[in-house]
Amino acid sequence: MPIPYSETVMEHFRHPRNVGRIEDADAKAVEGSPACGDMVAVYLKVDEDDKRITDIKFESYGCASNIATGSIITELAKGKTLDEAKHITWKQAADALGGLPPIKTHCSVLAVDGLRAAIQNYEERHGLVTEREPTTVEIVRKRLKHVMNPVVGLDIVRTNLVEDIAVEDGTVRVRLNLPADHQFAAAIEEDIVDKLEPRWDVEHVIVDFTE
Ligand code: FES
Repeated sequence: MPIPYSETVMEHFRHPRNVGRIEDADAKAVEGSPACGDMVAVYLKVDEDDKRITDIKFESYGCASNIATGSIITELAKGKTLDEAKHITWKQAADALGGLPPIKTHCSVLAVDGLRAAIQNYEERHGLVTEREPTTVEIVRKRLKHVMNPVVGLDIVRTNLVEDIAVEDGTVRVRLNLPADHQFAAAIEEDIVDKLEPRWDVEHVIVDFTE
């Protein structure tokens, strides 16, 4: 039986706003959904003075609900300050779409997680995070749980791709159980670096692959 989507969901799915990437983005994040393995990428341009989102784009590798919620949250976030945009909830996104079937709640959660991760990326890159907890292996592992293994649609920790993590003198080393010439190696490496490098005490991120 087809899922009963509202007309607004269908309209945003067919004509999504703000789709694409921003090449010179001030911040970006890729988030994966533990519920379904789909991914969303969010890119931001931010006014440095008043911290307002001047441009935002997204790329969805998810379903119709994810595309529609990506579209609506980018509409909701554009023009807002980072603090205001941080408080946009999946419920607001779903309400703005005229409701989502309960089975599709996680799709809007994914879109909002993507937005919040991009905001966090901006704040970390621009020294706006007041939390100064030193980076540990556990913190790295927690972040790596947000890096997806596209082969199976689960994160790289749960799928045992991460063989070893070492943190020493500002350098984080992640060893993956994946050949360097694997089709997703470069994308996974980029995602790992994006997730770890902005931390206040991390200077280098090195990803090692198997031969
Ligand atoms: Fe994965 Fe909707 S089913 S984002």
